[in-house]
Amino acid sequence: MHTMEDGISFGLILPENAKDVADFLLSNFFPNEPISRALELPPNQVQRWFTPTIIGSVQQECCIQAIDIKTGQIVGVAINILVEKNLQEPESVGEGRGLLDLLDVTEPVMVEIAKFLGFLNQVPMQVYKPGMDTDGRVRTVNCVYLNVLPAYCGKGIGKTLVDKSEVIAREKNAAYMQVDTTSEFSYRIFNRCGFSVIREIPLAGHLRNIESIDNGVHKQGRILLKKIRP
Ligand SMILES: CC(C)(COP(=O)(O)OP(=O)(O)OC[C@H]1O[C@@H](n2cnc3c(N)ncnc32)[C@H](O)[C@@H]1OP(=O)(O)O)[C@@H](O)C(=O)NCCC(=O)NCCS
Repeated sequence: MHTMEDGISFGLILPENAKDVADFLLSNFFPNEPISRALELPPNQVQRWFTPTIIGSVQQECCIQAIDIKTGQIVGVAINILVEKNLQEPESVGEGRGLLDLLDVTEPVMVEIAKFLGFLNQVPMQVYKPGMDTDGRVRTVNCVYLNVLPAYCGKGIGKTLVDKSEVIAREKNAAYMQVDTTSEFSYRIFNRCGFSVIREIPLAGHLRNIESIDNGVHKQGRILLKKIRP
């Protein structure tokens, strides 16, 4: 998995690059992602726990990076994690929640974000039934952080990162890919990649100040799912 398009090289993130990728996300994801911006998420509510979660995710070998060939700089990443749910155990509802399971929610703004994501993630388990394995489990690859450097946005790098992530998810034999989107821009990408909305709720009413971000373009939080195995 290594391709080049318009001066950008796309490839799997290796464990030795995980720290640089975490630094990239700390500088570019939280300052640009709509709900972190609306709630003015203080960097110190993330820095303490974030890097180890990225190192752990990268070890699963399904995260993709985009590198500018001229400068060698990271310009985009898709952090994907393997998630398993047991559909046969009623008490396992809430197991394998993807992004929510990575967050440390001890401080106030992170608590607000997790509360919103918890509400958004109230997805009925039966939607996963068509992808259930004989052991009663369903395996998904969740895209938990998608981020492109602002100067490189709007050129299709985000879409290519998702396309490459799907190739990896198929190699991992996942039944589905899933994502929580809080940005209209990422929603357009997943929509174009063939994902379907399985739950959506308005951001306004749940998240203060969201209307002030990007002229109010980000209207809905969404969970999108794509079946990638017959
Ligand atoms: C979401 C993100 C990864 C998109 O990356 P990208 O490389 O710009 O993606 P693409 O070039 O494939 O464009 C995706 C769509 O968003 C639009 N778009 C991207 N940036 C835009 C901007 N600043 N203003 C208006 N539209 C924009 C593109 O035109 C495209 O829309 P289209 O499908 O109707 O043509 C990037 O905006 C980002 O990193 N945002 C901050 C972090 C974030 O919010 N991540 C997603 C959280 S769920």
